[in-house]
Order: sequence, then structure tokens, then C-alpha cells
Amino acid sequence: MTKFNIVLLPGDGIGPEITVAARRTLETIGTRFGHDFEFASKLIGGAAIDATGDPLPPDTVDACKNADAVFLGAVGGPKWDGGKRRPEEGLLGIRKALGLFANLRPVTVTEATLAHSPLKPEVAHGVDLLIIRELTGGAYFGEKKRDEDTASDVCIYTVAEIERVTRVAFEAARKRRNSVISVDKANVMETSRLWRETVNRIHKAEFSECKLEHTLVDTAAMRLIQRPRDFDVLLTENMFGDILSDEASMLPGSIGLLGSASLGAQKPGLFEPIHGSAPDIAGKDLANPSGTISSIAMLLLHGLSLAKEAAAVTTALENTLNSGLMTGDLGGKASCTQFTQNVVDAIAS
Ligand code: NAD
Ligand code: IPM
Ligand code: MN
Repeated sequence: MTKFNIVLLPGDGIGPEITVAARRTLETIGTRFGHDFEFASKLIGGAAIDATGDPLPPDTVDACKNADAVFLGAVGGPKWDGGKRRPEEGLLGIRKALGLFANLRPVTVTEATLAHSPLKPEVAHGVDLLIIRELTGGAYFGEKKRDEDTASDVCIYTVAEIERVTRVAFEAARKRRNSVISVDKANVMETSRLWRETVNRIHKAEFSECKLEHTLVDTAAMRLIQRPRDFDVLLTENMFGDILSDEASMLPGSIGLLGSASLGAQKPGLFEPIHGSAPDIAGKDLANPSGTISSIAMLLLHGLSLAKEAAAVTTALENTLNSGLMTGDLGGKASCTQFTQNVVDAIAS
């Protein structure tokens, strides 16, 4: 029996509820395929501020560094707004500490979700795109300054940071439809001009067989709604990727559907749904655990190289959605617990 050491970071709001779904999915995979998943739950975000004063306690970082893979629920909430430390520092901090520079956010519109897209079916059908978001650079990590009447967040990128995430995008495209749209704001921003030059250079030198197009971020936001099937791999910097991925979550109809993998040069990766702590529905068993369950499929595939197990999770999730069982965000009546139960039953059978 193979043993895997999994760190769970439940965090805040709906984070603990969806982490139960993550754990149950892995336990069921363990039983079916003969793996022993050992879990350690650690503090992050607001929960960590409340317990220790620190959104990312050193003990959490140590445990994550020694894990085979890490799952994160969500952090943040109004309780910590205006405080000296913010829950979000914990999430940014763990991504940096683990060197997780590439965030993979797949978006598909399937038969089950097509009816839930706010777009017309002829626009939304068949969407299958992968956002590669740079995750440890740009304005979120540059120097921050604040005095009485001025504030600044420096947006900074090095060539090496752009090169490594660009390679992730082209390598992903090779396994898909071999097409990358790189998104930037090169008509205004110096970092974007460096981004575009670097993407072009890596493309020419290493991936010239792949189709490459550059699009300005404002146009990209429009095209995602106008012609979402244009996109195969969408490569972009940190903040643009953050915003465009929430927009793209509306193609299948709910942010609760989208999972992600945050990867670096070394293991472990961190696997996290793209949504936040959803304070408006927290504690009510209403959260859609699909994004969490998809993140677990990515944890199995990218984090532990268990492709068969990942496929079993994806199939069980698709079958559950196809059966018409839906949580409230998609207009259904299922609770988070019921939906998860259905998926784990489908994995086990
Ligand atoms: P949010 O993603 O938490 O919620 C936006 C809307 O989507 C809400 O109406 C919410 O109910 C709904 N929603 C989100 N996830 C859902 C799910 N799984 N099932 C059903 N509905 C779901 O975004 P927000 O309200 O802007 O942010 C709330 C807090 O979360 C903030 O503190 C923010 O910083 C934090 N946040 C954390 C992460 C993360 O931990 N990865 C990501 C985004 C936002
Ligand atoms: C996300 C979130 C985080 C981000 C926040 C909470 C730090 O919005 O994962 O998309 O900006 O990366
Ligand atoms: Mn976000």
C-alpha cells in the first residue's frame, strides 16, 4: 500500500466544509485503489490569526514543505477586514514559500453545465480552456507603500519569472489543441511589454510548432464572453489571471465548479478551488464542492502522478452533475454533504 502525506488547510468561511469533501474524496480513492492517505490539518488565514496572531504560522509552512500534496479550502472574510494582519497574506505566503509560480485553472462547459451558463448555448457549448496564471509575481508581490494620502503596489516581473510560466503554458498546450493566447496590457504597461517579448522569444526558440496569439487584457475579457471557444490555453500574469478566471467561471455558470493546481519546480503542489470563503453561505452546508473535487482530481494527477485515480474522480463528478444533482448556486437543492456523498458513492461503485 502506498502512503501519501496530505496537508489540509481548511481556512475560513466555507473552507472547512469543502475540506471535508476533499478528504472524503481522497479516502474513497484510497479504499478503492489501495493507497493510504495520511492527513494533517493545519491553520491558515483568519483561523490562524485568531489562534496565533499569524495568518501563516511557521508550523503550517513546515508541514506543507514536508507533504506529498497540500489542499487549501479558502481564506478571508469580513471578520478580519481592517485588522493588522489579513487572512489573504497566509495564502499568498504559502504560495511563495512553496515556490508555486504556475496556477492551472481549467474551465469546461459540459452537457450538464451548459444549461446553467448565462450565455446562449450556441456561444457556451464545447468550451474547454485552461488558464495558466502566473502566481508569485506582479502587483500582488511587489513592494507596497501607504501613507496618509498615497498608496502604491509595485507591479514587477523578471525575465526568468516570465520564462518559466511561459514554458508551463506551451507544454500544457502541446497536450491539448496546441494553441496559446497570451494576455497582457502591452499598450500601457512596461511589465506587459517584457511579458510579450519574453513569450515571443520562448515560443520561437522552443515551441514554434504551437500557435501563439497576443491579446490585450481588456479585449480578452470581451472575447471570453463573445467567443469563448477561441481559447485553448490562456497565459497571463497574476492579477489579470485572477480576474479573468472568475469571469471564465461564469461560462459553466458557477465559480463553485472550478478547481485549480498551483505548481512549482518541485513538489508539493497546492490544490485549491478558485473561489473564496463565500461568507454569505458559510456554515449552512450550501457550498458547491465541485471545484474542490476537481482540485482533488488535479492533486492526484499533478501532485501524486496517479492518473487512473484522477480519472475516477473526474468521471464520478461528471456523472453526479449529469444526474441533475446540483447545489443552490446552480439552482438545485442538494447540500454540500449530499453532493459529496453522491460523488464518493460513484467513486466507490
Ligand atoms: P467568493 O468567491 O468567496 O464569493 C463570491 C460569490 O460566489 C458569493 O456569492 C459566494 O456565495 C459564491 N460562491 C463562492 N464559492 C462558492 C461555492 N463553492 N458554492 C456556491 N457558491 C459559491 O468571493 P468574495 O465574496 O469576493 O470573497 C470572500 C472572501 O474570500 C474575501 O475575504 C476574499 O479575500 C476571499 N477569497 C479567498 C480566496 C481563496 O482562499 N482562494 C479566493 C477568492 C477570495
Ligand atoms: C484567488 C484569490 C486570491 C488571489 C486572494 C484571496 C489572495 O482571489 O486564489 O483567486 O488573489 O490569488
Ligand atoms: Mn481570485
